[in-house]
Amino acid sequence: MKVSVSILSSSIKASDIVKELDKTNADFIHLDIMDGKFVENKTWTFSEIKKITSYSKLPLDVHLMVKNPEKYIEDYAMLNTTYLAFHYEAVKDINKMIDLVKNYGLKVGIAINPETNEEVLYPYLKDIDEVLVMSVHPGKSGQSFIDASVNKIKNIKDEIIKQNTNTIVSVDGGINNETALLCKEAGVDRLVSASYLHNNLKENINILKNI
Ligand code: DX5
Ligand code: ZN
Repeated sequence: MKVSVSILSSSIKASDIVKELDKTNADFIHLDIMDGKFVENKTWTFSEIKKITSYSKLPLDVHLMVKNPEKYIEDYAMLNTTYLAFHYEAVKDINKMIDLVKNYGLKVGIAINPETNEEVLYPYLKDIDEVLVMSVHPGKSGQSFIDASVNKIKNIKDEIIKQNTNTIVSVDGGINNETALLCKEAGVDRLVSASYLHNNLKENINILKNI
């Protein structure tokens, strides 16, 4: 199982988490970028992000919870970014946004909020690398997993198999050893987690890796 560590925390400094990650089995650093418009909260500025991410060699998985995500691509393409995910709900011309991200040589992800029906993504599966299923309402860490996300993952996975695309499915929000298992059984490829992992970074990363 791939594990992406979200560094969003209300109690631990992001840079202190990042400094530990190269000593663990984590696969990615998950960066939650919020603009105070698409979601209420705001996270780091780009110059803060450059500093924070300089403490690790791990590839980045960027989650843009912002309006006008096209404005952020150039910046994040300069970092060690592998995946860049924008929200379906934040973009009018999805095909144009997919092309913009690809033109920077990045893998494209589309995130969907809990209230968004997964079928809206089916026309785009063949053109994207990742579906990011939000299993909490975006905006902060430490919320409880929304159970309906399991079925959503299963439906998306079935559709990916049907269309025979290479798209991976990630899940983000309320992931711990128990919810991770449900998502694995539904076919998820990558787990994103913050609070559960921060409790005991090395050990809990290993638990999710081996789930
Ligand atoms: C929520 C963020 C998540 C969040 C996950 O809006 O997208 O990445 O940090 O935090 P936990 O794992 O605590 O739910
Ligand atoms: Zn996230």
